[in-house]
Amino acid sequence: MTDYQRACPLADLPETGAVGVVVDGVPVAVVRSEGQVHAIHDVCSHAEVALSEGDVEDGEIECWLHGSRFDLTSGTPTGLPATTPVPVYPVKVDGDDVLVDVHHPLNTTD
Ligand code: FES
Repeated sequence: MTDYQRACPLADLPETGAVGVVVDGVPVAVVRSEGQVHAIHDVCSHAEVALSEGDVEDGEIECWLHGSRFDLTSGTPTGLPATTPVPVYPVKVDGDDVLVDVHHPLNTTD
């Protein structure tokens, strides 16, 4: 059972980068990197800042505040100070729209 909802137009995404949106009340960073579209919770696991304001490179997004990087596929931090994964969500492109299912994260964050 999936619950995809419209997150943003595909055209809103930079070639490499993120946009912050809210899907069903959940902050989501919709990210394009290396031709792939990803959806990751738009709150760093280290402090309450938006990951969508950070840089995107090589399939990772970097928190602008302290520099932790998170793998866009797994949500796993690849560098300190964050040690807890960030939820990542199923995402698909439907025509001109990006759809995200915020109710069924792909990873566990415990
Ligand atoms: S708030 Fe993101 S690494 Fe510190």
